[in-house]
Amino acid sequence: MNTMTDFPREKLPELLRTMPKAELHVHIEGTLEPELIFALAQRNGVRLPYSSVEALRAAYAFTDLQSFLDIYYAGAGVLLHEQDFFDMAMAYFRRAAAERVVHAELFFDPQTHTARGVPMGTVIGGLARACAAARAELGISSALILCFLRHLSEADAFATLEQALPYRQHFIGIGLDSGERGNPPEKFARVFARCRELGLRIVAHAGEEGPAQYIRDALDLLGAERIDHGVRCVEDASLVARLAREQVPLTVCPLSNVKLRVFDSMAGHNLADLLDAGLRVTINSDDPAYFGGYLNQNFLETFHALPRLEARQAVQLAENSFAASFVPDDWKARWRDDLARTVARLARA
Ligand code: HPA
Ligand code: ZN
Repeated sequence: MNTMTDFPREKLPELLRTMPKAELHVHIEGTLEPELIFALAQRNGVRLPYSSVEALRAAYAFTDLQSFLDIYYAGAGVLLHEQDFFDMAMAYFRRAAAERVVHAELFFDPQTHTARGVPMGTVIGGLARACAAARAELGISSALILCFLRHLSEADAFATLEQALPYRQHFIGIGLDSGERGNPPEKFARVFARCRELGLRIVAHAGEEGPAQYIRDALDLLGAERIDHGVRCVEDASLVARLAREQVPLTVCPLSNVKLRVFDSMAGHNLADLLDAGLRVTINSDDPAYFGGYLNQNFLETFHALPRLEARQAVQLAENSFAASFVPDDWKARWRDDLARTVARLARA
C-alpha cells in the first residue's frame, strides 16, 4: 500500500484508535475492573480483603506473573451467578466496540470458578449470552476459548473438558494459561490430543516467562495454531525462522509484558524486532483491568515507545489480527477492506 509511505506521523494515534482490529488474547476475568469487583462483592455478599477500590488498585504492584495471578484469581472470587459472567463480558464488549475492535476471541478459566462450586453451565451460559448480546447490540463478533490452568494436573484438565462438553457449541477452542515455569506443554499433551480429536482450535501461552523450548513444544506436542505471548522466541534463532516460515501468529501483550517485568520498559520491548523478522505478530491486552489499559492503550503506548513503528506496521498488525482469527475468510476480507478505507480516509483528511 503506497499511501503508507507518506502517511503523516501526527495522524498515527488517530489511525491506531480508529482502525478496525481483532483482539485475540484477552482473559475475560482480567477485564474485571476494581469498581465491578466491589459492586459484585456487594451484590453477592462476598467479603473482600480490601477496604476500598483504591486499596484494591494499590495492590496491583506486580513483580512477576505469579504475583499477578494470586490477585487475579482472588478478584474472580466475586463471580457467582450467570448474570455476573454476563455483566463482566458486556462491560468488556462495550469498551472493545468503542475502540473499533470488530472481533474478540475471549479466554475464560472455568477451573477458577468450578473449584469454588460455580457450575460450568453458569460460567459458559453467562459468557455465551454476552457474546450473543454483543453481536446484536454492538455489532461485534466474538468467540470463546476455554483455557486449562497449567498449574493444575492434566487429570483436572480432562475432567474440566468433560464438564464443558455439554456446552460444546458455545466455545471454539482450547488454550493453556496460568504459571508457565515448571508447567511445560508436555504435561498436557494427552488432553490436547483429545481436544484436537473433538475438532477444537488450539492455542497456548508459551514463551512469556517460560523458555523458547516451550514454544516449540506447544506447536509440536499440543498442536497449537497460535502462540500466546511467545516473545522469548528470540532466544532461539532457528525457532524464529520457523515461526516466520510457518507464519505462526504470536498474540503479544505489550502492557502486560512491562507490568509483569518480562521487559524492563516499553522502549525495551522486542515487538518491532519480531515484526522485522517477518513474524505474524498481533497486539492484545491480556488482562486490561490489571495492566493499565485496553487494546488501544496497548497500541498507543507501544508505538509511542518504539519510534520505528509507523503506519505501515499499524496496518500490518491489524491485518495480522484478522489473518490469525478463527473466522471464515470472507469475514477477514471484509475487515481488510474496512481497514483500507479507514487508512485512505485518514490519509486524505
Ligand atoms: N499468562 C498466564 N496466565 C494468565 C495470564 C498471562 O498473561 N493472564 C491471565 N492468566
Ligand atoms: Zn494471557
